Amino acid sequence: MWLLLPILLYSIVFLYVRHIYSHWRRKGIPSEPATLSWDFLCQAYRREFRHVEAICEAYHEGRDRLHGIYCFFRPVLLVRNVELARHVLQQANGHFMETKWDYVKGYRRFNLLEKLAPMFGTKRLQPMLLNTQDVANQMIHHLQQRELQGVVELDVQQLLRIYAVNIMGNLVYGLDVNNFEQQDHILNSFAENTAQHGNLQCFTLRGVPQKSTLTYRLLDIIQRNVEQREERGIIRKDMLQLLVKFRNGNDLGSDKWQVEHAIEEDKLMSIKRLAQVAEDLLQSALDSLASTITLTLYEIAQQPLIVEKLQAEIKELQSDGDGQLQLQLLEQLEGMKYMEMCVKETLRKYPPVPLIERTCRKSYTLPATKFTVGEGKTLMIPLLAIQRDEKYFSEPLKYKPLRFLHDKLKQSTQCPSAFVGFGIGGAQCVAQNFAKMVIKVALIKLLQHYDIEWNENAAAVVEVSHLPAPLITSPDGLRLKLKAREILAHSNYRKNSI
Ligand code: HEM
Repeated sequence: MWLLLPILLYSIVFLYVRHIYSHWRRKGIPSEPATLSWDFLCQAYRREFRHVEAICEAYHEGRDRLHGIYCFFRPVLLVRNVELARHVLQQANGHFMETKWDYVKGYRRFNLLEKLAPMFGTKRLQPMLLNTQDVANQMIHHLQQRELQGVVELDVQQLLRIYAVNIMGNLVYGLDVNNFEQQDHILNSFAENTAQHGNLQCFTLRGVPQKSTLTYRLLDIIQRNVEQREERGIIRKDMLQLLVKFRNGNDLGSDKWQVEHAIEEDKLMSIKRLAQVAEDLLQSALDSLASTITLTLYEIAQQPLIVEKLQAEIKELQSDGDGQLQLQLLEQLEGMKYMEMCVKETLRKYPPVPLIERTCRKSYTLPATKFTVGEGKTLMIPLLAIQRDEKYFSEPLKYKPLRFLHDKLKQSTQCPSAFVGFGIGGAQCVAQNFAKMVIKVALIKLLQHYDIEWNENAAAVVEVSHLPAPLITSPDGLRLKLKAREILAHSNYRKNSI
């Protein structure tokens, strides 16, 4: 009798798992045979399983537009075709609306991200460009202090993570914080450990809330700052100011920065919710900003001609008599076409969000098929695999910014629509203009002051991976040599193309 019980239990579990793992076969969708090995369970538990890489493999092994995979016990439909992926992402009929940013006030339900979108418009970003430059100048000052005979060798991944933390501390938390100098600041813990704070979709633990011991301390900072701005009318041209304006029902599209009608009963958002939005922005921003700048440096360090071309473009920007560059207008950044292509190429090769998931809210029939995705089921768009697919981008593993040159794209067989680094459709990255501004300012300041030296020996040990998933990092950091440069009067621009 006692022996039968474990056998029965084992059989039930076995049949249940087999039932789940036959989901796609039963639906007639091509899929690969799924197994649940002890090895896999151990790796997943230790968060060592390479989810992103596994999904890319499934993408390449698939033959049709759709490929069934299993994320643990969750059947997920992998979209292997760009047009279909764009269709899903642009679905306007509310089939795939995400609930995370839904907000209910009284009888009204609205999407918070849509309401906050004007925060990232040109009018609002323009004043924030000054704060961004201040933070970038702090980074250069920090490097200059570490220079030994004009050379500084360091882990740029760590440097840029601190830069990203300082930017978000400055603009979202309203703090003049400089974590390059101030090692004990609360925000500094975000600069140290990527794994602990990532709240992006986790392949295996989707839906399990991530604990953050910092949340309460961050709430304190927000509370103090919000009170100062509402009660004392302090104005600081940053994102927190705009969040406070939103909380007070003010129009974010206007030019004004002061908070109006700060009446307690009319508040649209509690301070706790505001602090949560601030933390979500911080989490969404940190890794994407730091990894994009780091990996751009990593790639261009291996191609000195690209560095030269970027430095020539920077040279075209107006600087004062000492060669100090003070960007006045966002348009100056937008005019930097070559840098734009480099950033785009980095985002193509190393998308900080390598997978986008959409859960069906109401059943959806896929275009040109008879297949209907049921409510609650998940579609996955593997950005990384698509953007590294030879079908869409020739020599996908080569870093070639000029592939994004407008005319070239028209002539070639490449597919510009396969680039979805910031997502597309209603849920695309709300902060993409802000992100580009922060990334470009860092690159401008670094390349204006330094040449980058690539250490051939180090190259062999650099590993860029999505571990912990889905963050893209180099687990052992990325050491580069920065060599102080004289700010030249004339550009050395070479017309060779890369
Ligand atoms: C290189 C930098 C960045 C890239 C490549 C990037 C890319 C993306 C992508 C692909 C999405 C998902 C879109 C979708 O689901 O369809 C997204 C969402 C989002 N991004 Fe960004 N992003 C970047 C920087 C930032 C920054 C700096 C912020 C904040 C200041 C930010 C805030 C957000 C938010 C709030 C969402 C919505 C997240 C959600 O629904 O959970 N992103 N981003």
